Amino acid sequence: MDVKNKKIKTIAIVTPGGDAPGMNAAIRSVVRTAIFNSRKVYGIERGWQGLIENKIIKMELSSVGGIINHGGTILHTHRCPEFRQKPARKKAYANLAAYNIDGLVAIGGDGSLRAAYALNQESGLPVINVPASIDNDIFGTDYSIGFDTAVNTAVNAIDKIRDTATSHERVFVIEVMGRNNGFIALDVGLVCGAEAILIPEINFNLDEIVRTLRQGQQRGKSSFIVVVAEGAASAREVADYLTKKIALDVRVSILGYIQRGGAPSALSREVACKLGARAVELLIAGKSSFLVGISSDKIIETPMAEVIRRTKKIDLATYKLAKMLAS
Ligand code: F6P
Repeated sequence: MDVKNKKIKTIAIVTPGGDAPGMNAAIRSVVRTAIFNSRKVYGIERGWQGLIENKIIKMELSSVGGIINHGGTILHTHRCPEFRQKPARKKAYANLAAYNIDGLVAIGGDGSLRAAYALNQESGLPVINVPASIDNDIFGTDYSIGFDTAVNTAVNAIDKIRDTATSHERVFVIEVMGRNNGFIALDVGLVCGAEAILIPEINFNLDEIVRTLRQGQQRGKSSFIVVVAEGAASAREVADYLTKKIALDVRVSILGYIQRGGAPSALSREVACKLGARAVELLIAGKSSFLVGISSDKIIETPMAEVIRRTKKIDLATYKLAKMLAS
């Protein structure tokens, strides 16, 4: 959507929903690009909740000093189911209007970007969306900010678990995050050499996993890693099943929230720097209602209507490769 008749003077940034490592690098990029282009910038604290409560602060070049390497979001965030309701979004728009904010950069995951789209559609406020979620489940980008960091965190943890699994000749069932998707589990499973990967996008049969483990045992393997996406199954239930079927000790490790924190990886920072700046440039150029993303190393823009409509697909070839290499 083009909003060329109006020159954007004042931009706000919000980081709603679950935090993701690299959000701070994105905030820094938005603030500095906006100020470099002589625009005023405000930060909305505590996500959509803070916007409803009018928690809006002025941001300067110095507000974002020393944050590029920090996980989390300096603006804080909060889950805000209320924002799914129209009256809450109306209040939010009124608060933005009171500060003469005429452009918004929303940095967040699937749910947050849908909410930003609803705000844009109802109020006409120009919005550009920046994908930031460890889940990497947003259509229109190869990488969302934070995904690469979360994968690296999980890989580091699983490499350590592999050591003790080998010493004790055990099976470890390791649960990773990803909400309803298996993007984290698939990448982690591939690069950790997991003997089995359970993701919601692909039907699985626990007896087939039992067979895989037994075949491995017959070939002399004595330790195994099974990576389970939280949306596919409960690691405990999988472990209970395997315990009944195979003559090996089975242990569970749920990696949990460590995947959401920590210093952002180089890739998460790079994506954040590039997409944050592009978001501001688009607003200044009179564009609205786009998601900025990365595709084959290039920055791309996808209309939000398409982002909302389409579903990002898991790469089946990666799944097959992981399976073959771990056999
Ligand atoms: O969307 C990011 C994510 O960490 C998911 O992987 C996970 O299912 C969810 O958020 C956890 O949500 P909360 O922070 O509300 O516990």
